[in-house]
Amino acid sequence: FVLVLDFGSQYSHLIARRIRDIGVYTLLYHYKEISVISHVISKKKPKGLILSGGPFSVYETGSPLISKDIFHLNIPIFGICYGMQMIAFLFGGKIKKSRYKEYGKSNLIIDSPPNNNLFSGIPDKSIVWMSHFDEIENLPKEFQIIGHTSSCNIAAFSHFSKDIYAVQFHPEVKNTEYGISVLKNFIFHICKCSLNWKLNNFLKNSINNIKKRVKNKKKVLLGFSGGVDSFVTAYIIHKAIGDSLNCIFVDTGLLLETEKKKIYSLCKKMHFSIKIVDAKNQFLSKLTGIVDPETKRKVIGKEFISIFQNESKKIKNIEFLAQGTIYSDIIESSVFSKKHSSDSIKSHHNVGGIPTTFKKLKLIEPLKKLFKDEVRKIGKKLGIPKEILYQHPFPGPGLGIRIIGEINENKISILQQAENILLQELINYEIYDSVSQAFIILLPVKSVGIKGDKRTYEYAAILRVINTEDFMTATFSHLSYNFLEKVSNRITNEVDGINRIAYDITSKPPSTIEWE
Ligand code: XMP
Repeated sequence: FVLVLDFGSQYSHLIARRIRDIGVYTLLYHYKEISVISHVISKKKPKGLILSGGPFSVYETGSPLISKDIFHLNIPIFGICYGMQMIAFLFGGKIKKSRYKEYGKSNLIIDSPPNNNLFSGIPDKSIVWMSHFDEIENLPKEFQIIGHTSSCNIAAFSHFSKDIYAVQFHPEVKNTEYGISVLKNFIFHICKCSLNWKLNNFLKNSINNIKKRVKNKKKVLLGFSGGVDSFVTAYIIHKAIGDSLNCIFVDTGLLLETEKKKIYSLCKKMHFSIKIVDAKNQFLSKLTGIVDPETKRKVIGKEFISIFQNESKKIKNIEFLAQGTIYSDIIESSVFSKKHSSDSIKSHHNVGGIPTTFKKLKLIEPLKKLFKDEVRKIGKKLGIPKEILYQHPFPGPGLGIRIIGEINENKISILQQAENILLQELINYEIYDSVSQAFIILLPVKSVGIKGDKRTYEYAAILRVINTEDFMTATFSHLSYNFLEKVSNRITNEVDGINRIAYDITSKPPSTIEWE
């Protein structure tokens, strides 16, 4: 396998994903996880190391540097962008601020001798994607230049005698014409990896592992959410152990109507048993009078756990707790990950978490090594419908955090109707798949309007549609006025209770995607 060390580049995940797509198992670790990294290197012996890009300058104090020891391990090394500058710096080279920031497409000219493996089979001139503000001024004597662009003299280099290579551009980005070929050359020609990552094998192994672990009629408990990860997890476990899997789905009453119908009807069609708990009234009564967003989140989370616990007590012989954790959840919850800081912004993403009473259960997390697109591929193999695999994310606290201020039954119904219309129009206008998330926020503000010659005094609502790669940053979607007009007309005409719609044109940061 190949080990990617993440120095904070927005593209680090992509490097790992591309290599897995090529068919070679890859692990990604944040550079600060030093003890884990040295353990992985010494015990698991990766066939290659990739040092990612990052937002740092090597000459600034406090910038992350890897120990020079890695150059003596006899493991091929490939530095990308900041990773390249770090290698040059550690060998005594000089890095300086570029005269021009280079961002976007550039023409790479290859200068390497014919026997240089990194660029083998790649034309002498090709387009690469650059994103840097520093460059190498003096290359240490151990290295030779193997590529340049018109504004970057040292766009790629290699060591004269060791398998150390580096590029200033980003081979993992689609805009680099021969990026995949560069990665393949490193992985196969230089690291001599063999193909070892096939989702079919993964599925088989994973089912066998679960079969081996869950024996003697022991039960597995799964808090089913209706999301992709949850569906795929349930399918895999059910394939392994059949009815020893027990799913519980808590209906908080804060779901989208379409979502609820979809889950209910799929649950009927599916072969595995799902206990649906209708807890709408409990949630409503707990939420009455609560306005503060964080308190709302905590109340919803606490109620969810308590209902889940009560239900699980009715099942005998539970020994395992299954979770739909995926690889990016693990990377993001690493204490060192830059994404960790978002946890303090909202009490997030873990309506369930693991309640303490479940801590004694053994965990089953079949997807924990997979990226989201791999989960979708597995889901496709398992026959999970497209509308589940490619659905927009829906937050655990549901409509509870999209009704600003106090929640009541009437407001939930108003919002459900508005969201339903939005969804229909996203599909009619064929926009659903090209945006990352789209929803309505109901404000606690009423304004005067006129409907059918009559004065109205109804709620104002906000339309929020965003595009994002990873939901950590996002931009509002640039939608056509036609679409906006249609959605606004339909909601204000068809939904009693809303007479005004505004479009949210802020990005994240400084806003967040949800309003609470
Ligand atoms: P924010 O509002 O933090 O949202 O920009 C980022 C993404 O996370 C979703 N979200 C949640 N998902 N539980 C979840 O499962 C939560 O508590 C939660 N809060 C926000 C949000 O919809 C967006 O996709």
